[in-house]
Amino acid sequence: MYKELAKYYDLIYSWKDYGKETDKIKNLIKKYKKSDGNKLLDVACGTGKHLESLKEKYHCTGIDLNEEMINIAKKNIVDVDFKTADMVSFDLNDQFDIITCLFSSIGYVKSYDNLEKTIMNFKKHLKVGGLVIIEPWFTKSGYMVGLPSMTTYDGEDIKIARLNTTARDKDLSVMEMHYLIVEKNKDVEYFVDRHELGLFEIDKFLEIMNNVGFKAEFLKDGLMKGRGLYIGIDS
Ligand SMILES: C[S@@+](CC[C@H](N)C(=O)[O-])C[C@H]1O[C@@H](n2cnc3c(N)ncnc32)[C@H](O)[C@@H]1O
Repeated sequence: MYKELAKYYDLIYSWKDYGKETDKIKNLIKKYKKSDGNKLLDVACGTGKHLESLKEKYHCTGIDLNEEMINIAKKNIVDVDFKTADMVSFDLNDQFDIITCLFSSIGYVKSYDNLEKTIMNFKKHLKVGGLVIIEPWFTKSGYMVGLPSMTTYDGEDIKIARLNTTARDKDLSVMEMHYLIVEKNKDVEYFVDRHELGLFEIDKFLEIMNNVGFKAEFLKDGLMKGRGLYIGIDS
C-alpha cells in the first residue's frame, strides 16, 4: 500500500487543501480540548502535510506504518518528531493533548477488533481532558460500489494517471488503484496498488469510543465531503 509509490503521494494529492483542513482542525481543538498543553500526535501522518502547519501552533509528533512516507516527512519538515509505527499497537511511552488521525487512515485497521485496539491505544496516549479527532472512511451504507474514479497529475517532467473502481468484500471496501507513471527520459511504468479499508458504521464507532472512555460525537460536516469527523474528549 503506497509502498514504492510514496514518492508520488504528494503529487497525487496535490489537489487537496491541507491548509484549509488544518484551519478547521485548529478551530476544533480550540473548541473541544480541555487539557492545558499543546502536544499533538498525528497518527498515520503520511508525508506530514497536515503537520506542516499544525507545527506552527503545537509541539508535533507524527507516526505512520510506511517507512517511505516517514522518510519523506523527515526530509521535508523540521521541528517534528517522526516515527514508523502501527496505529493498532504503537507505544510511544508518552501522552499528548491532541491526537489526530485524518484522511480516512483509520479505515486501514479493517476490523472492529482492530478499531477497538486502536481507539484504546489513542486513549492510552492522551492526557486527561485531551482530544482525539478522527476523520473516517465511508460507512457500509454510504459506500457506493462500482464507481469509477480517476486522478491525474500533469507536471512538466512527470505525468501520473490513477484509475480505479470501487468494490466491496463483505465489510471491507476494496480498491485496486491502477497507476501509469512516466517521468522525463524514462519509460512508462505500470503499478497496481491494492487498498482495503473497513466500512465502519457510525453508531458502532461511537459505541467503541464511548466504551473506551471518550465522550464521543460525530460531526457530519467534517473536512471532506461525505466523511464527517469523530471527536472524542478524554473523560
Ligand atoms: C490516505 S493516507 C493519509 C496520510 C495523511 N494523514 C494525509 O492526510 O495525507 C493513509 C495513511 O495511513 C497509513 N497507514 C495505514 N495503515 C496504518 C497503520 N496500521 N498504522 C499507521 N499508519 C497506517 C498509510 O501508510 C498512509 O500513509
